[in-house]
Amino acid sequence: MATGKPDVLFVNPLYNYPLEEVAGIFENHKYWEADDKDALLASLSSTCRAAVTRSTFSSEMMDKLPNLGIIAVCGVGYDGVDDEAARQRGIAVTNTPDVLTEDVADYALALLLAVARLIPQGERYLREGRWKREGPMRYGRRVHGGKLGVLGLGRIGSSLARRCEALSMRIGYHNRNQREDVAYQYFDSAEALALWSDFLVVVTPGGDSTLRLVNAEVLDALGPDGILINVGRGSTVDDAALAAALSEGRIAGAGLDVFVDEPNVPEAFLGLEDKLVLQPHQASATHDTRRAMSRLCIDNVSAFLDGRELLSPVP
Ligand code: GLV
Repeated sequence: MATGKPDVLFVNPLYNYPLEEVAGIFENHKYWEADDKDALLASLSSTCRAAVTRSTFSSEMMDKLPNLGIIAVCGVGYDGVDDEAARQRGIAVTNTPDVLTEDVADYALALLLAVARLIPQGERYLREGRWKREGPMRYGRRVHGGKLGVLGLGRIGSSLARRCEALSMRIGYHNRNQREDVAYQYFDSAEALALWSDFLVVVTPGGDSTLRLVNAEVLDALGPDGILINVGRGSTVDDAALAAALSEGRIAGAGLDVFVDEPNVPEAFLGLEDKLVLQPHQASATHDTRRAMSRLCIDNVSAFLDGRELLSPVP
């Protein structure tokens, strides 16, 4: 730390935020650019107290940086960080909630409308000349007035529900515990919620507690007219069960912005373009929000290094 500036390890570049902007206050170390990643970690082992990641940070990396005090995740989901391992080592973990809520809710609604009203399909139909050749295309499903099932009524889910109230939709939800502060209809399982819903939107965090929560039973409960949207984490949905339910017509359609092994998308999804709308994890991807996420991340690191209270530690 010859410069006197604190060493900060950046696992990935920040979104919409050139690291030169913090070069005056941090000694930035770009892990993603390092040819010899172990050598970089070894060179930082006694000095590095702060790390920033967009998604993952393993316990092995924590072991290589024994003085680490904070892992600042640039995203609301922190399932890529072993938070139990961090806790055991006394490392704080922060994320970037709130700043992305409204964008993700906008996007969930956009995806729901896109799937139900066949918007990507309509675009293809027109561009392929089929409108001219074959006449009007098939019809979509009415959204307004329908039943929205929110799987995971947290900040983003609530924000989506507010938008859907404006579409005169009825709102139901499933969380592990019923919320006392909302009047929406509560269902005590994902399956019960799916059975009631026209549109089931997954906004849960990832991790073990939600692993393949949306399985074949839940999809069958959603039924042949039902639509599934996932803007939470890919791990929450059983991919094989979803591909089967779509191809067998056991649900009507789906829109996915998240996948288990991004940027890889299961082969089985790629052939289902009539029913399945796929997006490359874009729900929070606006210039403003991505910049705000990066800013919050940096502010957490600065707060930690200055000995101030963290702005957004994970619960
Ligand atoms: C995006 O998926 C995030 O966790 O912010």
